Order: sequence, then structure tokens, then C-alpha cells
Amino acid sequence: MMNDSNIAMTQPIVEIKSLYKVFGKNPKSVLKAVKQGISKQALLEQTGHTIGLFDINLTINRGEVFVIMGLSGSGKSTLIRHFNRMIDPTVGEIIIDGQNIIQLKQSQLEAFRRHKIAMVFQNFGLMPHLNILDNVAYGLKINGVNKTERYDHAKRWINIVGLEGYDLQFPMQLSGGQKQRVGLARALAVDTDILLMDEPFSALDPLIRREMQAQLIELQSNLHKTIIFITHDLDEALKMGDRIAILKDGKIIQLDTPEEILKNPADDYVADFVRDVKF
Ligand SMILES: Nc1ncnc2c1ncn2[C@@H]1O[C@H](COP(=O)(O)OP(=O)(O)OP(=O)(O)O)[C@@H](O)[C@H]1O
Ligand SMILES: [Mg+2]
Repeated sequence: MMNDSNIAMTQPIVEIKSLYKVFGKNPKSVLKAVKQGISKQALLEQTGHTIGLFDINLTINRGEVFVIMGLSGSGKSTLIRHFNRMIDPTVGEIIIDGQNIIQLKQSQLEAFRRHKIAMVFQNFGLMPHLNILDNVAYGLKINGVNKTERYDHAKRWINIVGLEGYDLQFPMQLSGGQKQRVGLARALAVDTDILLMDEPFSALDPLIRREMQAQLIELQSNLHKTIIFITHDLDEALKMGDRIAILKDGKIIQLDTPEEILKNPADDYVADFVRDVKF
């Protein structure tokens, strides 16, 4: 049934069209062979180029948790890095909030990165010489928010992620789970529409990992951000994702809801993942 929240959910915020990424000396020179279907291995052996992404087409809706899943080397990080133009495609379109980000000039790109997209990293990416408060307030400082306001705001997020009292500690004094709470608070403090999370919980113990998953789900039920979440773990993908894109060798093998993926795995690769599901 369509109600207001369904309508809000189905507005696209990210659109990727016919995107290819080839790594190597002269990617454009091998693009034709890539499009004709040469295998990743043959291309590498014959030309020294690597297929990172192959004909990616997807739409991510405002407010959804979109999971990108696949084994190591399948292209997850390469794909997510296109969303804030940390890398440029060999060909293809990336439209975010109606804006073709390939066409942005340097100053526009910097503004886009500061205000549209925040990122949470697998290895936390905290600044070791800054205390927790300054780590969380960092993005706000870059965005020109004054000291009183950014500290107030940062403290609020530190409390929300469960780190009350840790303001003046340094990253090295925190456990892995606590560090990632700081990473999450820092990303949320800048209040962007889109949150990119590249295997944010992979470095954590199983128990802490489940706690962090639960916390993110709970936060999201109030925030309704667009979250693009990478994992190589199907359990995590099924738990977190409204939809899941499964990548293999740079191609999307299946893009579906968790239920559909469990019920109708697109091929043996997906079926192998599904066989190992623990719940
Ligand atoms: N800068 C680069 N130069 C050359 N090849 C690259 C580069 N970055 C990625 N690749 C290749 O692109 C493919 C996809 O890599 P990517 O890092 O996106 O995988 P991933 O799914 O994130 O893997 P992981 O789970 O290990 O993080 C791999 O074959 C990789 O070797
Ligand atoms: Mg990766």
C-alpha cells in the first residue's frame, strides 16, 4: 500500500548509469574489448588492465539502506568511491540529488563532499592527535561552524552513540567498538543526506558488531538517511539492507530485497552465500 513514507522512500537520490571502471595505463583503449565481454583475467594477462566495474546500473532511493555485497576484489570499494568522486569512472554517469557529479568543478566538488556525503571507514580513520570531541567536531569545523556550536553539536552525537564522558580521551585509549562509535558520530554530526559505510563493522568482534548493527538500525529509524553500506557478510547484508546489490568481478549479479535474494538467488555464486546464512 502506498502511504506518505513509501512515496518518500521511492525518490531516487543516487543514479548510476552504464558505469565502467577499468584500472591501468590506458583504460579507454581497452574499453571496447571490455564491453565485448573479455574476462577479467584475460584482459589482465593480455593488456595489464583490470576490470574494476562492469556496466553498473542502479538507483538508490532517498531514505533507504542500500547494501553492496561481494567477496574480496569484487569491486565494492571501487563502486562506493565513485559516489563522492574519490575516483572517476572510465565511462558512465553518476547523478546524485539530480546533479551529474562528473561535471562538478573543483570548488563545487569540495562543497558537495562537505555537505552531501559523509563516510565511515573500516579502520575508523580517526585523527590520533585529536581528542574525541575534536574528532567528532572536525567536519563541522571544516564547514565553518563556530566553536561553541560545533562542540555542542559534537557532544550531542557523542552522547547519542553511547560515549558520554569520553570527550577528552584520545582514539588510542578506546576499544575498536568505541572507535567506530566515534567514526559514526563524526559522520552523523555533519548531517549529510548520504552516509557511505565501507565495511564499518568488519574489524569488530562478533558481539560488538551485533551491538553496532542494532544501534545503527535504531538510529536510522529516526534519521531516515540514505545509507550505502558495504559488507562481505550476507548475514549483515540481510539484517541491514532494504535492498542488496551483489557484486562479482565488478558486475551486479543480483539487486533485490533480502527476502528475494533468500528465496530466488540469481545464480550459484549467490546461492553459495545464501547456503551459509545463520538465521
Ligand atoms: N587503484 C587500483 N589500481 C588497480 N586495480 C585496482 C585499484 N583499485 C582496485 N583495483 C582492482 O579492482 C578490483 C576491485 O577492487 P575493490 O577494492 O573495489 O574490491 P572490494 O570488493 O572492495 O574488496 P575488499 O573486500 O577486499 O575490500 C580488484 O581486482 C582490484 O585489484
Ligand atoms: Mg573494499
